[in-house]
Amino acid sequence: MDSRNQEEDVQRETPADAKRCQTCQLTACVAVATTAAALTMAVLLCLALCAPQAEQTSKTSGKELQQCQKEHHEVKLMLHAVTQDSRCRVCPAGWLWWKSHCYFFSVGLQDNCRWNESAEFCRRHNSSLAVIKDSAEMEFIQGVMRTFPQFPFLWVGLTDAEQEGQWLWWDGTDVQHYTLVMVEWDADHRDCADLRENGSFFAADCDDYGPWVCKRES
Ligand SMILES: *[C@@H]1O[C@H](CO)[C@@H](O)[C@H](O)[C@H]1NC(C)=O
Ligand SMILES: *[C@@H]1O[C@H](CO)[C@@H](O)[C@H](O)[C@H]1NC(C)=O
Ligand SMILES: *[C@@H]1O[C@H](CO)[C@@H](O)[C@H](O)[C@H]1NC(C)=O
Repeated sequence: MDSRNQEEDVQRETPADAKRCQTCQLTACVAVATTAAALTMAVLLCLALCAPQAEQTSKTSGKELQQCQKEHHEVKLMLHAVTQDSRCRVCPAGWLWWKSHCYFFSVGLQDNCRWNESAEFCRRHNSSLAVIKDSAEMEFIQGVMRTFPQFPFLWVGLTDAEQEGQWLWWDGTDVQHYTLVMVEWDADHRDCADLRENGSFFAADCDDYGPWVCKRES
């Protein structure tokens, strides 16, 4: 009997237990952060391994490169999953974290919108339609598009509504300020750029309805 009482005492939550629980949460958080760091290392390592293989021209290296790229992609997805962990979430639920930014892909979560309505949605969520600043970011966005094959295109923060033919990113910079982007199919009545899965931009009617991607700092 005595020992059972002791057991019950131990099981009852005391203030000390509560503290331990907090520590436990903190530990979990640190563990997740460590995992994220380890995965980042894995990505870097994989990239380092990929690079020399890319230079080889033998038939087998193509396959290895493909495998390596596939693993690289999977590790990146795992990294996203880890950083979505509710205990250490840096982005709101439903947003993806990538390189100290949070991204919202509307597909399946919101009805399709006109370009200006998409922009308004992003603004209401303290973000803006995505400004794509380098090829790595473009690859990340394309990767997400590939995960959702129903994406016909994405609205991003690129328009020539102010002056026909002068395409500007949401932050006011010229379309080619960050990367050598071209907007195909430009016409008077097509003032908003849509991004295709293959990384091409097409001019579209801003009143068309589509999914979009918001971006903000995490
Ligand atoms: C978006 O533009 C349409 C016309 O193109 C207009 O009717 C609508 O009010 C605009 N919406 C917002 C949120 O600006
Ligand atoms: C946007 O930022 C403001 C001010 O920092 C904050 O009060 C508000 O909750 C934020 N809204 C969202 C949707 O994050
Ligand atoms: C990208 O895809 C679109 C169809 O969505 C196609 O019209 C275009 O030619 C493609 N661009 C390249 C560079 O492959």
